[in-house]
Amino acid sequence: NLPKQVKIVEVGPRDGLQNEKENVSAAVKIELVDRLSRAGFTNIEAASFVSPKWVPQMATSAEVMAGIARRAGTIYSALTPNMQGFEAALASKADEVVIFGSASEAFSQKNINCSIAESIARFESVAKAAKERGLRLRGSISCSFGCPYQGEVPLDAVADVVGRMRDLGCDEIDIADTIGVSTPRKTQAVMETAAHAFRLEGISGHFHDTYGQALANIYASLEVGVSIFHSSVSGLGGCPYAKGATGNVATEDVVYMLNGLGIETGIDLDQVVDAGAFISQQLGRKGVSRAGNALLAK
Ligand code: HMG
Ligand code: MG
Repeated sequence: NLPKQVKIVEVGPRDGLQNEKENVSAAVKIELVDRLSRAGFTNIEAASFVSPKWVPQMATSAEVMAGIARRAGTIYSALTPNMQGFEAALASKADEVVIFGSASEAFSQKNINCSIAESIARFESVAKAAKERGLRLRGSISCSFGCPYQGEVPLDAVADVVGRMRDLGCDEIDIADTIGVSTPRKTQAVMETAAHAFRLEGISGHFHDTYGQALANIYASLEVGVSIFHSSVSGLGGCPYAKGATGNVATEDVVYMLNGLGIETGIDLDQVVDAGAFISQQLGRKGVSRAGNALLAK
């Protein structure tokens, strides 16, 4: 009894590119976002207003947001760790701002340089400002399935941060497997815990494919009713503060699987494959989407 419809949040332009060593120009990022918009995504994570000293690749975020051709009905999201980030997101006309915390204390320190409790206090002003301006608010929770620094992350820790994000007024909450270590049964336990602390319709799965488990984890999440997933075109990416973490699950692979299951996404797979070929060519390497490469070889 799987959901009939799924929303895919395309995070390639942000999560995918944030870790690239070589500078990717704003023009290329704009072209990528525009191709993804044309492919039919209703939500694209296009920008990240974080410190350029921490994540240099995202320094062009304002330029990208100014240059893209916005498709009516598509939500263009931006990461906003604090009020400085929020002001930049507001100026760039982001439709949704993303506060990002962690279920792991150790990862919170490495990624955003503060404790979980301090991060929630910082997010309060961002959340309040977002509500006042009528912007959508999303909360992302890293290391919900395991942490590169502390290892196991208890279910209670996930439930606690989900509850705090809910209390801040988040419209959607991402349960993220930052280092791709989860397996299907564990995924179901974490997703059920998260849904219990929030609401099932607002829970999304953000899976990295480091251990090759991402599609299985998505299927396992579908079985418990989760209907929002994040993915990255061509499987781009990795987190700068999670050593060895590879990209998100590839969008092409997710759309291929959902198409086969008869689940509606509104996304044109051929156009996603084209967008993946475009960015792979720009980066000078072959994309890692299995479905994408198979379709390109046809
Ligand atoms: P900090 O150093 O603790 O903060 O950084 P600060 O307030 O002391 O500021 C220090 C400097 O940063 C100042 O500049 C600020 O102006 C500047 P200086 O005076 O030294 O020249 N600054 C900013 N500049 C631009 N935009 C801003 C901003 N804020 C401060 N918004 C901070 C705290 C959170 C800013 C920093 O740690 C940071 O930017 N971290 C980046 C973390 C990041 O982007 N990680 C990757 C994204 S999360 C992710 O990928 C996980 C996810 O995909 C889910 C998953 O898979 O797990 C979402
Ligand atoms: Mg991520």
